[in-house]
Amino acid sequence: MEAKELVANGSNREKKMKRKEILEKKKAIDEIIKAASSSHRDHLDSFQPFRHYNRNGLSVYLESGRGDKLSSPLKQHIQNLLKVNMEEMYGSEWRKEEKVKRREMVAPEARYIFVHEAPNENANHISTMVEKEMSFSNSIDNRGPIVGFVQFRFTIEEEIPVLYVYELQLEPHVQGKGLGKFLMQLIELIARKNRMGAVVLTVQKANLLALTFYMSKLGYSISSISPSRIDPLIGLEKNYEILCKAFDNEAKAIL
Ligand SMILES: CC(C)(COP(=O)(O)OP(=O)(O)OC[C@H]1O[C@@H](n2cnc3c(N)ncnc32)[C@H](O)[C@@H]1OP(=O)(O)O)[C@@H](O)C(=O)NCCC(=O)NCCS
Repeated sequence: MEAKELVANGSNREKKMKRKEILEKKKAIDEIIKAASSSHRDHLDSFQPFRHYNRNGLSVYLESGRGDKLSSPLKQHIQNLLKVNMEEMYGSEWRKEEKVKRREMVAPEARYIFVHEAPNENANHISTMVEKEMSFSNSIDNRGPIVGFVQFRFTIEEEIPVLYVYELQLEPHVQGKGLGKFLMQLIELIARKNRMGAVVLTVQKANLLALTFYMSKLGYSISSISPSRIDPLIGLEKNYEILCKAFDNEAKAIL
């Protein structure tokens, strides 16, 4: 065999190996996402102490849910809370955004953590803002009313398995009492436990309080996949930033 041919064979083998490595890595990531998203999983089971939050005058408990298992009143409740919290933030774009959020809400991949007010709180229960607006008692299935939720998915960004927080929404009367921070701590534990490389989320630039909450209080930073980091000009056109907290070196380098 000639030297040239030997070199060519060698580099073909290398390419083949590389391709095999890439395919194996992709397969491993798909398996991680599949395992994390398994329908039998209740992510709260691994974090029992997080099922209840009794601080700062709040007494709430958490429950898991899925996008394809939401009852009609619950869907309505989510939509109302989103409207109360986000309509002003989106301004004229709200109508379009609301449609997107409605689709995301019921996606089979969507996972939820619902925050219920503890039932004994209901004795002299004063209607929450969303309830008032909906004028129906939100004691869905006789549980305490829902006063907030996190919606998230296990997904892939730049070949890194990530937990993507689609929504974190608390009713105004339970905000500022440490609950948001508590929920994000839980989300990070769920992400790590399920071998995600990072938690990723999108925040409206106009939502300065949320930006401060994530960046100054919880240590999130603007991701290199955020439009403003990819190209400052594109960044100017977009009204959101993508934030992330990466756990391992690969995710830190890429996201
Ligand atoms: C943003 C949100 C999730 C934060 O949750 P929260 O329970 O209100 O926040 P916490 O009480 O856990 O606050 C955590 C820290 O952030 C600070 N913080 C939170 N909200 C704040 C606010 N409105 N103004 C000033 N500081 C605030 C707190 O002072 C606290 O700091 P500390 O740890 O030093 O005491 C919640 O306010 C919310 O649902 N807002 C409306 C919807 C929204 O904007 N969601 C985010 C979309 S991406």
